[in-house]
Amino acid sequence: MKFQVGASLVLILFFANLIRASDDDIQKYLDEQGQIHNFPLKHLNYKQIVETFYQLEKEYPHYIKVYDAVQQFNNETLPKAYCSNTQSPQDLCKFIYAVITNYSDPKHVNFTQSFFSGNFHGDEVVGPNVLTYMAKYILEKPDLNILSKSYIVILPMSNPQGYSQNYREECSIKNGKKICTDINRDFPYNTTENKCFQSAGARIINYIWKKYLFTAAITFHGGMTAIGWPWGSKNHMTTSKGQLSPDQSAFYNLGKRMSEVGGEYPDIPKYDCGILNDIIYPVEGSFEDWSYAASWEKDIDPSFSSYFPKCSGISDDELQIKDSTARSLTYLIETTNNKSPGEHTYGTWQQIQNNDKGQGHVTRNIRLTLDFINNLSPSYELVTHKSANYTFYVKWAVEGCHQVSNTKLLVRENDQQSNVVNDSYYSLQQLLDDGFQIYKEYTDYQGKVKDITSFRSQVIEFEDQRERLIDIAIFSECDSFLTEKVSSGQPTIEPQSHFVRSRSNDSYIAENNGFFINSNKYIIKSLGPLKVTNYSIYTEPDVINSANSSQKNDYEFLIALFSIITVGAFISYCIYKKFDGLGANNVSFQQLQDDDHQLQQLPKSQQQQQQQNQSKKVQNKEGGMKQYELSHEEDGL
Ligand SMILES: *[C@@H]1O[C@H](CO)[C@@H](O)[C@H](O)[C@H]1NC(C)=O
Ligand SMILES: *[C@@H]1O[C@H](CO)[C@@H](O)[C@H](O)[C@H]1NC(C)=O
Ligand SMILES: *[C@@H]1O[C@H](CO)[C@@H](O)[C@H](O)[C@H]1NC(C)=O
Ligand SMILES: *[C@@H]1O[C@H](CO)[C@@H](O)[C@H](O)[C@H]1NC(C)=O
Ligand SMILES: *[C@@H]1O[C@H](CO)[C@@H](O)[C@H](O)[C@H]1NC(C)=O
Ligand SMILES: *[C@@H]1O[C@H](CO)[C@@H](O)[C@H](O)[C@H]1NC(C)=O
Ligand SMILES: *[C@@H]1O[C@H](CO)[C@@H](O)[C@H](O)[C@H]1NC(C)=O
Ligand SMILES: *[C@@H]1O[C@H](CO)[C@@H](O)[C@H](O)[C@H]1NC(C)=O
Ligand SMILES: *[C@@H]1O[C@H](CO)[C@@H](O)[C@H](O)[C@H]1NC(C)=O
Ligand SMILES: [Zn+2]
Repeated sequence: MKFQVGASLVLILFFANLIRASDDDIQKYLDEQGQIHNFPLKHLNYKQIVETFYQLEKEYPHYIKVYDAVQQFNNETLPKAYCSNTQSPQDLCKFIYAVITNYSDPKHVNFTQSFFSGNFHGDEVVGPNVLTYMAKYILEKPDLNILSKSYIVILPMSNPQGYSQNYREECSIKNGKKICTDINRDFPYNTTENKCFQSAGARIINYIWKKYLFTAAITFHGGMTAIGWPWGSKNHMTTSKGQLSPDQSAFYNLGKRMSEVGGEYPDIPKYDCGILNDIIYPVEGSFEDWSYAASWEKDIDPSFSSYFPKCSGISDDELQIKDSTARSLTYLIETTNNKSPGEHTYGTWQQIQNNDKGQGHVTRNIRLTLDFINNLSPSYELVTHKSANYTFYVKWAVEGCHQVSNTKLLVRENDQQSNVVNDSYYSLQQLLDDGFQIYKEYTDYQGKVKDITSFRSQVIEFEDQRERLIDIAIFSECDSFLTEKVSSGQPTIEPQSHFVRSRSNDSYIAENNGFFINSNKYIIKSLGPLKVTNYSIYTEPDVINSANSSQKNDYEFLIALFSIITVGAFISYCIYKKFDGLGANNVSFQQLQDDDHQLQQLPKSQQQQQQQNQSKKVQNKEGGMKQYELSHEEDGL
């Protein structure tokens, strides 16, 4: 803990220095910004959400495209969900979805894709507001370093009918009868033939999943405060407890990170987190397990194919799932105990980045979602360099990465400029073959994530003092612990998600419909030719892919985020199991026995900490949680 505080101070001082603005300047700037931007977030109704997205498309055509899924997938057999009492064609609900990326960059087809669902349940109203304001925020602040590497698909209202009329299910008329379907029980996973793909919402999501190639997803709900991940179905229960999935290490660590970034405030509790079966309850037909496992689980064991029914009335073609399409790290977020907590709890525009000024349900979920997106694809936040006295100084930072397992600085003399630096290196061997030599190497330092990045710097010295041209390359490997196999995962196979596979396999490639996921086990940046001189050349911080507008705001955000991290470090509300490696303290992975929660191989203080966490959990189960379990039958989450 002491170390942690010390490190924070050093970094804060560093950043304060970097920005070179007096406190007064910063305060003045923030006050001005506050007057412009510190408006309270209003609740947006169905119509306002649709309009907001089309408006954003008009304003930012290079960064967002908006579709109406009903027209896009143009299937006349989709159940007709109306958003008004008159059932005329123009009253069909609009299932709008938006794609946000940098369309001007030809590489966007290979950016990391993630999917966000606002609300399967119409009366759980926080999610649609989170996603609509998040879209606006990303587009209005294009320095977030998200547009340059992410491909974000947002379905702000997964149940527009329920949202517009404030009820849970989606209803339509079938053979003269009104049929209502719970969209999050309507996916072909651990359910029966006549109980899947009966809703327009679930079928539209299936179409979206067949079209894109998602690495990860978040689906928003309401009714409690928790973050859960697979398994979340009855076929993955053993007596009363849930089974871990083969990707538990990644699920757990990214889930815990979201809980930490979500924070804890006087009126807003910290997110509990854990596998859905334990922390919420098992269901049949859920989107979470389907989107994580439908591409691979049925191939593991022929008997598992019974978990994947055909759905009555749906063609084989529509049901067909490719090997690449359903391998997502999918999270379910229960945003609030109250499904409709009122707009006074949403927060203000400014709080999205300034969490020290209070926090709302909408703002904290925007912040944790943006952080989540950023962490899906590590990259270099900045690389700066300076030459003087015939030496060369390089500084770099990795973002979107909690722990830099390994980073190297490589150098190549290139006086004749016979070699051209190219930006498509993908392995260390390639760099070595191309004449680079390892100058310095570091292992296991805290790389951390955006806004709390720690830097590596290195002076390169040469044997003889003369001017020369060099090329440099920086090689890093991130978060290798996320890829570890969990011995008690079920089924007992290697991790299956794209996320883990692309980080652990340096030749990984997955493809769907012209979109690719390439390995990001190593991230490599090369620069050159650079001049080594006897006078000082300083390249100002070269914030890659970033506009110059909001440095000062980021400074506040930075400090704010730090306080969460340092507080969050020792208080984990995430329940259990195998790993406890992230967070700022980075204790080595705590080994817990999986099935009986008993502890092994832990230093005493950590054992006490764990026991505290667990007793909290038990209290929840016996107190608050029970209530949820009871109300679930009538009410559902
Ligand atoms: C989008 O891509 C274009 C072309 O590569 C680039 O010039 C621009 O800076 C990018 N915009 C952002 C916000 O990354
Ligand atoms: C996308 O990745 C694929 C597979 O690695 C590659 O062949 C293709 O050139 C990449 N596309 C772009 C535009 O970078
Ligand atoms: C879901 O799986 C459980 C356990 O295998 C099974 O008992 C149950 O019948 C399944 N549900 C459906 C609807 O098939
Ligand atoms: C619409 O869905 C039906 C049932 O799944 C299928 O037979 C048909 O091919 C689909 N049509 C289109 C245009 O996708
Ligand atoms: C260069 O070396 C001189 C003499 O050793 C020293 O005074 C000066 O500070 C150095 N300059 C830089 C930029 O390191
Ligand atoms: C980059 O370098 C690699 C390895 O030397 C080479 O195969 C590739 O063709 C180069 N690409 C470009 C665009 O120069
Ligand atoms: C790595 O990925 C490639 C391409 O997707 C695949 O062929 C290979 O089997 C994978 N290697 C391992 C060890 O999983
Ligand atoms: C480098 O430049 C400084 C003055 O800028 C000079 O005093 C020094 O001798 C130079 N060093 C070499 C090795 O040329
Ligand atoms: C950078 O900042 C300057 C001065 O504030 C401003 O005029 C310019 O438009 C900004 N550039 C971008 C890309 O935001
Ligand atoms: Zn729900």
